[in-house]
Amino acid sequence: MYPALLALVLHTASLLVAAQLTLPSSPWQPPDISDGAKSSNESYPNSKWSTLLGEALYFYEAQRSGELPSNKRVPWRNSSALDDGREARVDLAGGYYDAGDYSKQTFPLAFSLTSICWGATDFGKGYDLANQTAYLDDMLRWGLDWLIKAHTNESTLWVLVASKDSDGSYWGGDRTIPIPRPVYQVNDTNPGTDVAAQTAAAFAACSNLYANRALDNSTFSTPASLKDDTYADTLLTHAQQLYKFAVNATGGRKVYQKSVPEVASAYASSDYGDELTMAALFLSWATGDQQLFLEAEGYWEQYKLAESNRVYNWDSKVPALPVLFSQISKTQPNVGSNFSTWQRIAETYFDSIVNKKDSPAYMTGGGLLWFEGDSNSASLNPALNVAMLLRRFSPLTTSSEKKADYLAFADSQFEYTLGKNPMSMPFIVGLNPNSPSKPHSAPAHGGNDVETINTDPENNAYTIYGALVGGPDRWDRYFDIRNDWPQSEVALDYNAPLLTLASMHTLSATKDPYYVQLQEGAYLSVKPSGIPCDAVYPEGCRAPAMNKGAKIAMAVCLTVVSLVVFGLSGYYIFILIRNAKEGTEYTA
Ligand SMILES: *[C@@H]1O[C@H](CO)[C@@H](O)[C@H](O)[C@H]1NC(C)=O
Ligand SMILES: *[C@@H]1O[C@H](CO)[C@@H](O)[C@H](O)[C@H]1NC(C)=O
Ligand SMILES: *[C@@H]1O[C@H](CO)[C@@H](O)[C@H](O)[C@H]1NC(C)=O
Ligand SMILES: *[C@@H]1O[C@H](CO)[C@@H](O)[C@H](O)[C@H]1NC(C)=O
Ligand SMILES: *[C@@H]1O[C@H](CO)[C@@H](O)[C@H](O)[C@H]1NC(C)=O
Ligand SMILES: *[C@@H]1O[C@H](CO)[C@@H](O)[C@H](O)[C@H]1NC(C)=O
Ligand SMILES: *[C@@H]1O[C@H](CO)[C@@H](O)[C@H](O)[C@H]1NC(C)=O
Ligand SMILES: *[C@@H]1O[C@H](CO)[C@@H](O)[C@H](O)[C@H]1NC(C)=O
Repeated sequence: MYPALLALVLHTASLLVAAQLTLPSSPWQPPDISDGAKSSNESYPNSKWSTLLGEALYFYEAQRSGELPSNKRVPWRNSSALDDGREARVDLAGGYYDAGDYSKQTFPLAFSLTSICWGATDFGKGYDLANQTAYLDDMLRWGLDWLIKAHTNESTLWVLVASKDSDGSYWGGDRTIPIPRPVYQVNDTNPGTDVAAQTAAAFAACSNLYANRALDNSTFSTPASLKDDTYADTLLTHAQQLYKFAVNATGGRKVYQKSVPEVASAYASSDYGDELTMAALFLSWATGDQQLFLEAEGYWEQYKLAESNRVYNWDSKVPALPVLFSQISKTQPNVGSNFSTWQRIAETYFDSIVNKKDSPAYMTGGGLLWFEGDSNSASLNPALNVAMLLRRFSPLTTSSEKKADYLAFADSQFEYTLGKNPMSMPFIVGLNPNSPSKPHSAPAHGGNDVETINTDPENNAYTIYGALVGGPDRWDRYFDIRNDWPQSEVALDYNAPLLTLASMHTLSATKDPYYVQLQEGAYLSVKPSGIPCDAVYPEGCRAPAMNKGAKIAMAVCLTVVSLVVFGLSGYYIFILIRNAKEGTEYTA
């Protein structure tokens, strides 16, 4: 009895010392939108960058599903979808809505959490400086606790709650979300290697953060200060179980839509070798196990990942892998090896993009990195993901010139996102008077009918602060149309690199972010006419509508042409008359 009591006391004590950080009693709230058009006149730390970080985190609070706490910060959001999973006798309440509607998707959620935890481990001091670490902790646990519930046993993972097909494209508030909300799982006989491995990666990466397993702190910053060893251990156990499930399921290795076809309409996965590699790498970092690093190298070869080194997003993780291989082999030589090999592979990819030679992407006229195909349905996310990787890799380059080039390119993409673009628009809602005002978000809109999504009501009822939208089209045009989801939708994975980039800049920047100089009306004065070019408006892809500059150029061009034609025709008439005269003479 005594040992049992002692164990209980110790257990309670460990819960007390290792709990979630206390949230500030007076909650941080985004400042008024006009604040984003005022300079701070500060040097370091610069509060404009911490505000950006705070807003990017705040977005996730607006995406919460389940029972909201009494100290919720987003006043217009209500508790919702409290019965998720009940029909399948599993508790799947909570977590995050994926994007502009109310489905919950494990695959992109796990990718987003992996990205955020990796960033908060390498560049976590930015969160501390911005006084945002308690909100980071809160944000992560809201997602991780849900993933823990969704991982009901070693080889069962719930991967989807409701979808566009199941809810009949419901468009409305959070108090009338239609039921039933069907739930779907992968399991030992019907596995999903990609989703299991990505979720393992998320648990392992976040375990590293919560355990304070920093990489060499002379190369990277310190992790955000939210250490909780008990939680880190729990996360690591889930990571190890899911990795085993991904690798050795009885049903073999396969993409998850083969087991759950319902996920295909939104997040069909193209492969799983990249997720397996990522899971093995974060687990080798977490455990110091060299065998896992070797397994990761094995997957890289087996799945020929070098041949699909293209975009970094929720589906394709290949470009991040050489960075992670390099980080581990450079800072933990007892775990990883071949630093110079991985450094070269990473630099070959980054050089191709930065030097625009054999690049997997091209630059738009306005300077956005564009991956044809992937950028068409959310153009900013792939560019920001590259910017984030470049910045993370920059301390590991072979030369200081390369380092400078990488940082400059990364900054160009981040600055584009923050308003240095042909639209004069920072593509983050609620940040500046020129920010998008009609994001594709059902709860923020306040309308009830998808047929009248653009007009009823015309303006969003609520501002979804901190949400990064999909982004402009290939001609750098942004139309701010609510039903145009490729441009205007918001999503968990879009914001993930924004957090890490904002934390990096909070740590290092002395100047204000670009957008503070954009005054009210800047976007309206250049807002394009015509229609966008994307999946919702394919007719807009036939010919780009012209902006003012192009119109002037066109007018000048037409004038020159008509002058030339006029001049030539005058000359021709002169010749005709002369010939006629001569003809007359001849006939005479
Ligand atoms: C920054 O300086 C400008 C010009 O001196 C001033 O108008 C502005 O109010 C200052 N902003 C802040 C936040 O102090
Ligand atoms: C963070 O908190 C410290 C201590 O209260 C304060 O001095 C500092 O100004 C705060 N920083 C920001 C960006 O709010
Ligand atoms: C996991 O749960 C399912 C039922 O939900 C069961 O069929 C399966 O045997 C369980 N697997 C393990 C490893 O416990
Ligand atoms: C939350 O509930 C309030 C009060 O009923 C309502 O006005 C608001 O529109 C709801 N929010 C959403 C996102 O539906
Ligand atoms: C395993 O997953 C498949 C696909 O989601 C599902 O059809 C099947 O019912 C699941 N098996 C169990 C025992 O729940
Ligand atoms: C970096 O790590 C060393 C060794 O663990 C430690 O002594 C030092 O305080 C750390 N530096 C920072 C800035 O955390
Ligand atoms: C997968 O199964 C093989 C063969 O039984 C075993 O050697 C390996 O350790 C297993 N992998 C994991 C991650 O459990
Ligand atoms: C890493 O190094 C080991 C031994 O030095 C070698 O066998 C292996 O092929 C190398 N891996 C890569 C990816 O170069």
